[in-house]
Amino acid sequence: MEFARLLLPCLCLVLVAVCVLTAADVPVVGLPGCTTRCGHIDVPYPYGLDEGCAIHSDFVLNCSTTKLFYGKTNLEIAKISVQDNKAWFRTWASRQCYNQSTNQNIYDDAWLNTTDTPFVLSADDNTIVVLGCNSLAYMIGETYVIGCWSSCDNSTPIVNGSCNSNAGCCQADVPTGVRYYRGYFNPLYNNSDQIWKTKTPCNYVAVMDTAVFNFSTTYLTSTVFYDTYSNNTPVVMEWAIRSNISCAEAKTNNTSYACVSNNSECITNDAGYACNCSKGYQGNPYMINGCTDIDECSNNATYPCTAGICENTPGSYTCSCPRGQSMSSDGVCKKNQRLTWMALVVGASIGLVVLVVTITCAYLTHERRKLKHIKQKYFRQHGGLLLFQEMRSQQGVSFKIFSEEELQQATNNFAEKEVIGHGGQGKVYKGVLKSSTEVAVKRCMTIGEQQKKEFGKEMLILSQINHRNIVKLLGCCLEVEVPVLVYEFIPNGTLFHLLHGNHTRHISLDTRLRIACESAEALAYLHSCASPPILHGDVKSTNILLNGDLLTAKVSDFGASILASSDESQFVTLVQGTRGYLDPEYMQTSQLTDKSDVYSFGVVLLELLTRKMAINVKAPENEKCLSMVFLCAMKENKLEDIIDCDIKDDENAELLEEIAETARHCLDMCGVNRPSMKEVAEQLDRLRKVLQHPWAHKDPEELDSLLGESSSVNSGSLVTTTSFSITKKVAMGLEIGR
Ligand SMILES: *[C@@H]1O[C@H](CO)[C@@H](O)[C@H](O)[C@H]1NC(C)=O
Ligand SMILES: *[C@@H]1O[C@H](CO)[C@@H](O)[C@H](O)[C@H]1NC(C)=O
Ligand SMILES: *[C@@H]1O[C@H](CO)[C@@H](O)[C@H](O)[C@H]1NC(C)=O
Ligand SMILES: *[C@@H]1O[C@H](CO)[C@@H](O)[C@H](O)[C@H]1NC(C)=O
Ligand SMILES: *[C@@H]1O[C@H](CO)[C@@H](O)[C@H](O)[C@H]1NC(C)=O
Ligand SMILES: *[C@@H]1O[C@H](CO)[C@@H](O)[C@H](O)[C@H]1NC(C)=O
Ligand SMILES: *[C@@H]1O[C@H](CO)[C@@H](O)[C@H](O)[C@H]1NC(C)=O
Ligand SMILES: *[C@@H]1O[C@H](CO)[C@@H](O)[C@H](O)[C@H]1NC(C)=O
Ligand SMILES: *[C@@H]1O[C@H](CO)[C@@H](O)[C@H](O)[C@H]1NC(C)=O
Ligand SMILES: *[C@@H]1O[C@H](CO)[C@@H](O)[C@H](O)[C@H]1NC(C)=O
Ligand SMILES: *[C@@H]1O[C@H](CO)[C@@H](O)[C@H](O)[C@H]1NC(C)=O
Ligand SMILES: *[C@@H]1O[C@H](CO)[C@@H](O)[C@H](O)[C@H]1NC(C)=O
Repeated sequence: MEFARLLLPCLCLVLVAVCVLTAADVPVVGLPGCTTRCGHIDVPYPYGLDEGCAIHSDFVLNCSTTKLFYGKTNLEIAKISVQDNKAWFRTWASRQCYNQSTNQNIYDDAWLNTTDTPFVLSADDNTIVVLGCNSLAYMIGETYVIGCWSSCDNSTPIVNGSCNSNAGCCQADVPTGVRYYRGYFNPLYNNSDQIWKTKTPCNYVAVMDTAVFNFSTTYLTSTVFYDTYSNNTPVVMEWAIRSNISCAEAKTNNTSYACVSNNSECITNDAGYACNCSKGYQGNPYMINGCTDIDECSNNATYPCTAGICENTPGSYTCSCPRGQSMSSDGVCKKNQRLTWMALVVGASIGLVVLVVTITCAYLTHERRKLKHIKQKYFRQHGGLLLFQEMRSQQGVSFKIFSEEELQQATNNFAEKEVIGHGGQGKVYKGVLKSSTEVAVKRCMTIGEQQKKEFGKEMLILSQINHRNIVKLLGCCLEVEVPVLVYEFIPNGTLFHLLHGNHTRHISLDTRLRIACESAEALAYLHSCASPPILHGDVKSTNILLNGDLLTAKVSDFGASILASSDESQFVTLVQGTRGYLDPEYMQTSQLTDKSDVYSFGVVLLELLTRKMAINVKAPENEKCLSMVFLCAMKENKLEDIIDCDIKDDENAELLEEIAETARHCLDMCGVNRPSMKEVAEQLDRLRKVLQHPWAHKDPEELDSLLGESSSVNSGSLVTTTSFSITKKVAMGLEIGR
């Protein structure tokens, strides 16, 4: 009885503690008089259910019979978080199903469009999933095309919880900044009667929350995937108050600046600018006084204060010892008294401390060993040992294998503010090594299993590339799950910025032709210096860096490219590229060839000629693609209409036509009809010489001798010259820099 009476208050105390802890969770706040709930979903400010309750019209939501919708697009919202700047949407999955009676495939394509809304697809939280036994499907965005090929070979078991591209499931990473995409199945990969009968009735592609996706064998054998997710695919979005202004710009207008709470700060994410409470505060930064101090002392699990006196301070807390005690180095308070009877206690405490320290050390050592083990696993997986051995045997190679710590230090732990570029293949960070050398560090996206094994071998080949128009690969890191590449840092910017950054800047035809020539030579070198050839895989103007005042072209970002397989039957299981530059044939066949690079280079040539972007998001559908606009203009003999006025003049008309003709050749739909990169480089070099020596133009004899016997120039007219014959003198261009 007595015992129970003692126990009761204790139980109450525990209950109170639990209540207090729950209450400490951030309360949902909205403007006065505004509803902040829709069914079971919280609607925190800056969102609101009508115009007056939201920060601006883009944040008005629609609550309809306990479901929350985003008005503009009628997307369903499952959850909103102000702390994380994230919202969870329900979207759609696409499918391709075989119908045995008609022997045809039926498509249900899904798409998402959040253009002109605060929402952007979170690259870190979502994944592209393709399911099926013969399915090549992509996510096609405004700028990127990314997808993968899922198959079922009979030797790989199909198991629950494991997504394997040889066992009915593959995944690809989502690029940053995606506001529009649709799922697309390559019609050449489809379910036959055979697959339909024995393996799976349908193929699927979906972009979904990585945390939710868990492969189940039933996704193939039944329709449960589509039944569950067809119009209920969870997707994580990041959101921002304004999409196209930076924090600095936002702060200049203090009537519209959204981070109004004391102790709040402005943050930038993929969607634009948003707010967060400062460190040590929590709540809603969009409300006046929304951010409140965190009482760290009531949460000793997250904010430990072992045996000390915890005191909460604004934005932080202190942990001190009672009077007459002092904090020892391991955070425990110890009495200062020298009483003899305490000696025993002190001795015992010291013993305890020693014990604790020993156990902690043992534990840490164990953990470290485990970590090392994991690192070694990745190292081996990526063929690190092979690379290491080869490096040792080939002395004088200036290629370094970096440790993970080194690169973390160099890039501020891969801080978001160090990002200098991102694309379909990964993010690039600026880094400074201990030796104070500036480097560009590329963190690749997920790569296929087969490529993982080959990575070390690939690095070995890439390490030997040495060309003055190719960014030098300084080293790599193999200890991490996805490979990390380290390049020399080129500060001056990209061809993209030169052409599209400041339109008032004059860029002469000579400069353009030289950049084209240098890039073509670099690519030709990549294609020819190793066997099988090194393919770039993502040629575009943002990957052509310009060095120094002379704007020397340097091709970058070739490391994530793959070595062309000598085995023709082998597919690339991950298709990725940049829209506008992507070779349509590669997209169809999923086989990257040297001619895919030629196609992409053709688009770069067009950019140089027209000073227009490869893809114009704002243009009507049939004028989006520069290559299409160009090919139409060529067909209608209206080339002058699209050439940049800056370089258009009568004197160069013929030369420009020849460059255009070269580009057209590169853009041939059929890969085998395209010239090789070497031929393109030679042709451009020849045209460059013509530009530099116009006198040759007037004297066919002299021109002939300049170009070598095999060039086909007839009676001074260059217009008809489209052959890509190899001329002896020009071929030497390739030798430079070797
Ligand atoms: C709210 O959503 C429902 C269901 O989608 C729609 O019928 C209704 O028109 C929407 N109301 C507004 C004001 O957008
Ligand atoms: C906001 O700050 C908290 C704590 O300072 C942090 O955990 C959280 O990730 C931040 N949110 C964003 C979107 O950066
Ligand atoms: C297959 O096609 C036939 C004819 O168009 C149609 O009647 C049938 O419903 C389809 N079956 C399925 C499963 O879609
Ligand atoms: C399946 O793909 C093949 C080419 O791989 C194509 O010839 C065939 O027409 C396609 N079948 C269906 C039903 O779409
Ligand atoms: C996406 O939506 C915007 C406006 O809501 C529209 O202008 C654009 O054309 C849409 N994009 C596509 C590809 O449908
Ligand atoms: C996988 O899990 C599902 C249930 O989620 C179950 O029905 C199925 O039998 C499991 N498959 C295997 C191979 O264990
Ligand atoms: C995925 O599902 C399997 C059973 O189908 C389960 O054993 C496993 O724990 C799940 N994994 C995750 C990450 O939820
Ligand atoms: C932001 O975008 C809007 C609409 O797209 C445009 O009107 C405005 O000028 C842009 N602001 C800035 C600073 O670029
Ligand atoms: C807004 O900012 C300007 C200077 O940028 C300042 O002079 C003005 O007092 C501010 N207004 C308010 C209401 O804070
Ligand atoms: C500041 O923002 C408000 C509200 O969006 C707008 O009306 C005002 O014109 C802006 N002021 C300046 C100087 O941009
Ligand atoms: C907000 O901070 C300012 C200056 O830091 C202070 O003057 C003001 O009293 C604070 N407001 C509140 C409500 O604490
Ligand atoms: C944390 O606080 C709870 C109750 O307030 C207490 O029982 C527990 O001993 C504390 N833990 C530590 C490590 O101080």
